[in-house]
Amino acid sequence: MGKKLTNQLTGRHFLTLKDFTEDEINYLLDLAADLKEKKKAGIPHHYMKGQNIALLFEKPSTRTRCAFTVACIDLGAHPEYLGKNDIQFGKKESVRDTAIVLGRMFDGIEFRGFDQETVDGLAKHSGVPVWNGLTNEFHPTQILADFLTVKEHIGHLKGVKFVYVGDGRNNMGNSLLIGGAKVGMDIRICSPEVLFPDQDVVNYAEEVAKDSGAKITITADIDEAVSGAEVIYTDVWVSMGEEDKFKERIDLLYPYQVNKEMLEKTGNKDVMFLHCLPSFHDLETEVGRDVYEKFGLKEMEVTDEVFQSDNSFVFDEAENRLHTIKAVMAATNGSVNS
Ligand code: CP
Ligand code: NVA
Repeated sequence: MGKKLTNQLTGRHFLTLKDFTEDEINYLLDLAADLKEKKKAGIPHHYMKGQNIALLFEKPSTRTRCAFTVACIDLGAHPEYLGKNDIQFGKKESVRDTAIVLGRMFDGIEFRGFDQETVDGLAKHSGVPVWNGLTNEFHPTQILADFLTVKEHIGHLKGVKFVYVGDGRNNMGNSLLIGGAKVGMDIRICSPEVLFPDQDVVNYAEEVAKDSGAKITITADIDEAVSGAEVIYTDVWVSMGEEDKFKERIDLLYPYQVNKEMLEKTGNKDVMFLHCLPSFHDLETEVGRDVYEKFGLKEMEVTDEVFQSDNSFVFDEAENRLHTIKAVMAATNGSVNS
């Protein structure tokens, strides 16, 4: 495994990749690869034996919820799912009071929801490690799964020409920009100008790039962005909580759909396609059918042809949510560092 960071991660929160160094990110990726091997070989890894973990969800989830749940069980801990309507949180009890109560009973807290302030508040007041399972602003555990998948197929992260196409100012755009800057990628955000990431995130990434050697490009020009790309990544055009924006986003983002023509423009027949999922690539979902009836689109951010192609690694990426989330928990709250 890469550089050993004994105890450096113990007791830490995982709220945004801003808080982690390049070495720490690489350590978590190496640990995830090691835990993946152990799982496949049936080798027990109960680094959190006897712990109780709260999984707090304001928004729905398949991958993140399942990854945290299975990771807890594989690590010997007990996961407790607390949905939006199951507890007093938000309606009758503040973030601070909830954090204190959960911290008295649980050994760690995962939070998925709307405001970054909420997960930051849980971290401030609970006294136990808190992990961000997605907020409007950031989705840091997803980036670890994305980067593990890139490492598995390309072999390294430094200098990788990684293009994120679509809604550049959402949680995925922000987190990929920060993560890519940290690990020294040639990271390119390609979206219409009105959806460029906030300037403070871009400034942060540019500052980080001075040390890591990353190259940062923010552009509306698809040809410029995808030239020579090794990875093309996209996300939904409308994120959770902004469901009134379909018309506006379709008008803006249709030219940025990931299709065969875009993959060909890279000039790289082996270009990887990644997507955090869930994805609208066919009419097999309620929302997909609703969009088809209203706007006539059968596919949105990616065509079914690309999604199902040999260039697509989206299900490896989804599986890697488990191994990377397990690494985050084991490193911050487990005995793996001792
Ligand atoms: N990628 C991701 O976070 O998926 P879920 O919304 O299903 O958790
Ligand atoms: N940007 C998406 C990511 C889903 C994993 C959303 O927030 O809905």
